[in-house]
Amino acid sequence: MFKRQQPIPDDYVLMDEKERDERIRAIKANMGSKLVILGHHYQRDEVIRYADYRGDSLKLAQLAAQEKEAEYIVFCGVHFMGETADMLTSSEQRVILPDLGAGCPMADMAELEDVEACWQHLMAKYSETFVPVTYVNSSAEVKAFCGRNGGMTCTSSNAPKIFKQLLDDGKRILFLPDEHLGRNTGLQWGLRDQDILLWNRENSDEVELPKEAPQLILWDGYCPVHLRFKPEQVDEVRKKYPGIKVIVHPECSHDVVAKADLSGSTDFIIRQVSEARAGSIWAIGTELNLVQRLAQQNPDKRIISLNEGSCLCTMMGRISQPHLLWALDNLNQGKVVNQITVDEKITADAIKALDRMLELSK
Ligand code: 13P
Ligand code: SF4
Repeated sequence: MFKRQQPIPDDYVLMDEKERDERIRAIKANMGSKLVILGHHYQRDEVIRYADYRGDSLKLAQLAAQEKEAEYIVFCGVHFMGETADMLTSSEQRVILPDLGAGCPMADMAELEDVEACWQHLMAKYSETFVPVTYVNSSAEVKAFCGRNGGMTCTSSNAPKIFKQLLDDGKRILFLPDEHLGRNTGLQWGLRDQDILLWNRENSDEVELPKEAPQLILWDGYCPVHLRFKPEQVDEVRKKYPGIKVIVHPECSHDVVAKADLSGSTDFIIRQVSEARAGSIWAIGTELNLVQRLAQQNPDKRIISLNEGSCLCTMMGRISQPHLLWALDNLNQGKVVNQITVDEKITADAIKALDRMLELSK
């Protein structure tokens, strides 16, 4: 959800980096176990270095659910991750997002009202045969909708397992909001193009529902960062670097995933590349901060971005070292800024969807 971030005092921006670094480290030492900083892999180096734990969306959700001690959980990621952490922690624990403007455009592409209208349509036509599954990159309201209707959340790392289980059980899936993760996962388990229907949220009246219920209905949301990777780029790097391995995130379109050697979540990408043999060459189709960090951490391999242009997630990038220090400085003085809170009623439903996912991911 796009929210406004109040401007932080100039001092934090003008201060030199070394001083900010020292102050962040001093506050962390002073607050001890009262404070935990979680960081997503797409965070900038200037921020991720302070994370007590880093991970993909699943790991960070699991860490938040297990974190019982910390009073404050500072989330270096985007808004939906902060909401998820708030719902998975106790009411005494506070979740803080250092820049409230750090939203996820894909999450904003599924509004509850539109999702409910689509659901009514499907129920009227096909009766109750669908299970709503939402990618965690969605609002708490959409997660609550899934929880209320017998559905669940998923992340890029457990989507294959969750799809397989549902399809094996003969269930049909309404997948929100990422068309591409949904299509890639459905095709991976043998669905054919004709088994998949794309919902058109802007012109839902024009969507023609076939007589026979489709196996998979995809919301037409997408990640603007991952759609910058194109199949031609895979052809180009293969030509330029014979023997190169191409690994991409499943938020990329299917024509890119089909040409790549491997696809998976950010944790999966890190594992594959880190464990690869020295001398291997990799083109990675995901956010640039992560690709550059992998290149630095693996000097024995050649690692490039699949798109030589800039594939940065500017939303993740809104969390800067000055914002982090500003939020921590306030906490250290007993003042909570930028707390992310989800309404109790929404949480009660959304938690059902999150718990079903966490149970299936054990
Ligand atoms: P994962 O870290 O779960 O792979 O997700 C990527 C992403 O886009 C988070 O917004
Ligand atoms: Fe959202 Fe894409 Fe950024 Fe992930 S990379 S937070 S999906 S815009």
